[in-house]
Amino acid sequence: MKKRESWGSHLGFIMAAAGSAIGLGNIWKFPYIAGENGGAAFVFIYLICIAVIGLPVLMAEILMGRATQRNPVGAFRALNNSKFWVGVGGLGVIAGFLILSYYSVVAGWALGYVVEAVKGSFYQYTTPQMAGEHFNQLVGTPAWILGYHFLFSAITMGVVYAGVKGGIELGSKIMMPVLFGILIILVIRGVTLPGSSKGLAFLWVADWSKISGNSVLVALGHAFFTLSLGMGAMMTYGSYMSSKDNIPNSSLQIVALDTIIALLAGIAIFTAVFSAGLDPAVGPGLIFQTLPVVFAKMPGGYIFSILFFILLFLAALSSAISLLEVIVAYFVDEREWPRHKAVLTMGTVVFLIGVPSALSYNLMSNVHFFGLNFFDTVDYLAANILLPLGGLLISIFVAWIWGSDRAIRAVKTGASRWFKEHHQISEGWLTVLKYLAPVMIFIVFLYSIGVIKL
Ligand code: PHE
Repeated sequence: MKKRESWGSHLGFIMAAAGSAIGLGNIWKFPYIAGENGGAAFVFIYLICIAVIGLPVLMAEILMGRATQRNPVGAFRALNNSKFWVGVGGLGVIAGFLILSYYSVVAGWALGYVVEAVKGSFYQYTTPQMAGEHFNQLVGTPAWILGYHFLFSAITMGVVYAGVKGGIELGSKIMMPVLFGILIILVIRGVTLPGSSKGLAFLWVADWSKISGNSVLVALGHAFFTLSLGMGAMMTYGSYMSSKDNIPNSSLQIVALDTIIALLAGIAIFTAVFSAGLDPAVGPGLIFQTLPVVFAKMPGGYIFSILFFILLFLAALSSAISLLEVIVAYFVDEREWPRHKAVLTMGTVVFLIGVPSALSYNLMSNVHFFGLNFFDTVDYLAANILLPLGGLLISIFVAWIWGSDRAIRAVKTGASRWFKEHHQISEGWLTVLKYLAPVMIFIVFLYSIGVIKL
């Protein structure tokens, strides 16, 4: 059998995993859901969810990958050969197809907006309504939306085609520092704008009156999405690690990077939005409809708008490659396909699944399933159903099926002496996976599918 691929360095793994975590979730979604849920109070709850549930589940996923050196299907099969659990791995691969298909459409908008920014289109806008109309006109053009969806899919395939070390790792090691550098520039621009302190206050001064049960559930759901949990992406990346790698520390670093980037993106965006006197709570259009107007008014806005959409594109790309890698790893490990065949075939399939999502904004805007267009249906199915369900089952699997003793032994392998000597830590981790995570995720799940209303 051919030797399985692996990371070239520990740093390479951290960059790739942080790249997976840091994505549209951090830069597009987090700021707008924080905006809708009242800012600081929501951020506080989100941080608790990340630390208490996100981190332990992230450790569990990476661990399963490293212990088995397999894709999600192979990982479950190696630890427990029952049809049910192998099927859970399969669900992860299916989620990979679904999420990547529409993720690539939105990522394509980012790419298209880099071009709009370069063309200087934003200068025509004086109000978010005008920017909104232009946005609707662009996504309403099939050739625009499909063209960028295609371009983004092709770039993602190119990186994954080059392999774990030569493509994903190398790409992440270049993209992540660039992303961080751009974000720092945007944060500095944001906080030096007149009136930026209102934006900062929005993020740091808690308005508890806006917090409802709903906000808590949104926060937990987002903790999963932003850490790429529940579908085996982190499992797959973990499968290219060695037993020398320190999983608790790596997980902590990934969570820290993901959280810092989300908060910095929040600072960059809200300082600018408040300084321009615009509304922070407009929902998903915040980035494509409000920000362009902010850039139009801001000194140096031309250059900052280009940087911003490049940032969004890089964040999306490093996440998209992890989604494609889950699918590719499955075909390489389980079906023994060569990598290039898996990438080209499955990348094309993902692109095609994404076509109806892209057309949901134009030719297929009248096609609805349960009141949602195709794009929203796939998003709902994947993010609200498959990810929480996957996270729930992975927690249960590691804590109850794989078993406490084996899981604890595995998590200590490669860990620091401090971690090994403080048994309470690994036991606390297991307790979260056993009880707290499944119960909390189950509640979110019932809420997501509309069984509970808050
Ligand atoms: N974490 C990514 C983001 O925040 C999305 C993602 C989800 C990527 C699941 C991989 C797997 O945008």
